[in-house]
Amino acid sequence: MSANEREREHRLLRISLLVAACALLCVFVLVAIRAGRAPWRVLQERFFALYPAGSEAGDTVGIRQYTTCASEVDRCSSCHLGIGRSDLADPGIPLPFRAHGPGLGNHLPDRIGCSACHGGNGRALDPVAAHAWAGRRGRDPLMREPHIQAGCARCHVPGDQPGQERLEQGAWLYLGLGCMRCHPLTGGGRGGDDFGPDLTGIGRKDLAYLKTSLLEPTDNFPGSTMPSFRLALGKDPEAMESLLIYLESLALHRYPACGTRGQARSLVLRPCATCHAGKGGHASGRMKHRCAYLLKKAPELRCANCHASVIPPAGREGGYCPLLKQHRGACCACHDGAANPFPRGGRGNMG
Ligand code: HEC
Ligand code: HEC
Ligand code: HEC
Ligand code: HEC
Ligand code: HEC
Ligand code: HEC
Ligand code: HEC
Repeated sequence: MSANEREREHRLLRISLLVAACALLCVFVLVAIRAGRAPWRVLQERFFALYPAGSEAGDTVGIRQYTTCASEVDRCSSCHLGIGRSDLADPGIPLPFRAHGPGLGNHLPDRIGCSACHGGNGRALDPVAAHAWAGRRGRDPLMREPHIQAGCARCHVPGDQPGQERLEQGAWLYLGLGCMRCHPLTGGGRGGDDFGPDLTGIGRKDLAYLKTSLLEPTDNFPGSTMPSFRLALGKDPEAMESLLIYLESLALHRYPACGTRGQARSLVLRPCATCHAGKGGHASGRMKHRCAYLLKKAPELRCANCHASVIPPAGREGGYCPLLKQHRGACCACHDGAANPFPRGGRGNMG
């Protein structure tokens, strides 16, 4: 290669490097211009002008981003900046700057995020995409009170903490109205009497559709064999709404790493007879059930009603106690995956 050729090659290299650097700069400038107009930035500047810093940390313009216990990115507080500021609780303070109401409890936004309870798209910085109201295409539509309670089921067993009364009422309605008979929530969900379809994903449909399914099943499925629940739900909008909240909750992803569900499940899988095999079917020890179902059904489930002396050993073939068998299907209304909550085992265990 001659010196001339080498010189020309160097010059070409320098020019292409310069062009690349210019292109990169242009991209940065474009991004900066766009960011300058971004709604979150506009809101933050207004926020800091209206409610100056005070002693709270982190009062600088910038995206607020958390990775939650479910490993999801949550940036809602980029606009909802006042959420944790006790001085901004006055209801006169406009959204999104107002502090959160009592519904937040002790849940830490940097651990739980906002969309775990509210739905919406936690990653989005555009208000329309972040809020994604029901009926819009969103990953999970943002839910309004009292439908926020559906979100509690991601982490809680319905009814294990206050604030989920409508969700729990919905679970009881699902059991009480006999939905489980045709729409069991186990093993793919399909089957039961009359082969009702799996309902674990149905909560993503809009509420009007679901209401019609319950009041006039033949409107959505001509010739439907599902009975109408007009009598039970038609004149009781609160019960109807609770049942819908419950159906919505079934469709939401569970966050076992964030809550108490896993714990309750492993307890469910402990055979009843480990503790109830004493004389007269009495359990020993100091444990007191917290299970909403066991407490409500205690008069029926009291082992001593039928096993006056001792609970029989579990049969070799693993036949279930008819009473426990009868109640077994109900457990998965609140305990995910509890298809077989009375496991088989050795002597004294449930067959
Ligand atoms: C780009 C800024 C921005 C982001 C990001 C954002 N919000 Fe908002 N949010 C607002 C504004 C502005 C309002 C008040 C005006 C309105 O209702 O749209 C609001 C209102 C709300 C309301 C009350 C709405 C009502 O009508 O009752 C809720 C609930 C809410 N946001 C939740 C969330 C959640 C959850 C996220 C994250 C998934 C989120 N927001 C992300 C700007 C934002
Ligand atoms: C533990 C569940 C939970 C979490 C986590 C949560 N919220 Fe809420 N949020 C609620 C409940 C319940 C209500 C209604 C009762 C109340 O206002 O306290 C509510 C109400 C609101 C409202 C008022 C809606 C209105 O129409 O007035 C806004 C805005 C809001 N939340 C935003 C957020 C943002 C932003 C985050 C994240 C920093 C968040 N929430 C985290 C449960 C939660
Ligand atoms: C992302 C998971 C998650 C979601 C969603 C969630 N919680 Fe919790 N919640 C927790 C955890 C974790 C605790 C602490 C549990 C413990 O200490 O055993 C808790 C505790 C609570 C407590 C006890 C007091 C407190 O605030 O610490 C209440 C009450 C409560 N949750 C209500 C609710 C309600 C109501 C909803 C729905 C609006 C909800 N939670 C949604 C994870 C969650
Ligand atoms: C006697 C059996 C039976 C009972 C009880 C029953 N269903 Fe159904 N359900 C069905 C069948 C079968 C279908 C499918 C539509 C058809 O072909 O009739 C269906 C369809 C549905 C659908 C629409 C599904 C879709 O894909 O659009 C919903 C929602 C639904 N049921 C909810 C419920 C709820 C909630 C209850 C309790 C209040 C309930 N069902 C009780 C048999 C039943
Ligand atoms: C870890 C031990 C343990 C296990 C496992 C257990 N129980 Fe209990 N259970 C108790 C104790 C302790 C009591 C209170 C003393 C009593 O009533 O004998 C109790 C009480 C009850 C009661 C009366 C309501 C109450 O809380 O006072 C019912 C009903 C009941 N158990 C059903 C069951 C069923 C069904 C299972 C299986 C799913 C089960 N238990 C598994 C320990 C246990
Ligand atoms: C309504 C009456 C009734 C109640 C209440 C009842 N059982 Fe049973 N159980 C039976 C009958 C009937 C059988 C089958 C005949 C037998 O083996 O005694 C049975 C069988 C069993 C067996 C043997 C299971 C098998 O088939 O291998 C166990 C273990 C058992 N029950 C545990 C319990 C426990 C624990 C409780 C309380 C949580 C309970 N039962 C409550 C009626 C009842
Ligand atoms: C209506 C909702 C609901 C239904 C249906 C339900 N449970 Fe529970 N269960 C709960 C709640 C709430 C807890 C408390 C969880 C906690 O505090 O962490 C619980 C806890 C438990 C526990 C842990 C020990 C205890 O009592 O605290 C066991 C065991 C249990 N349930 C068994 C069952 C069995 C077996 C069935 C079906 C026969 C059933 N559950 C049906 C709501 C329900």
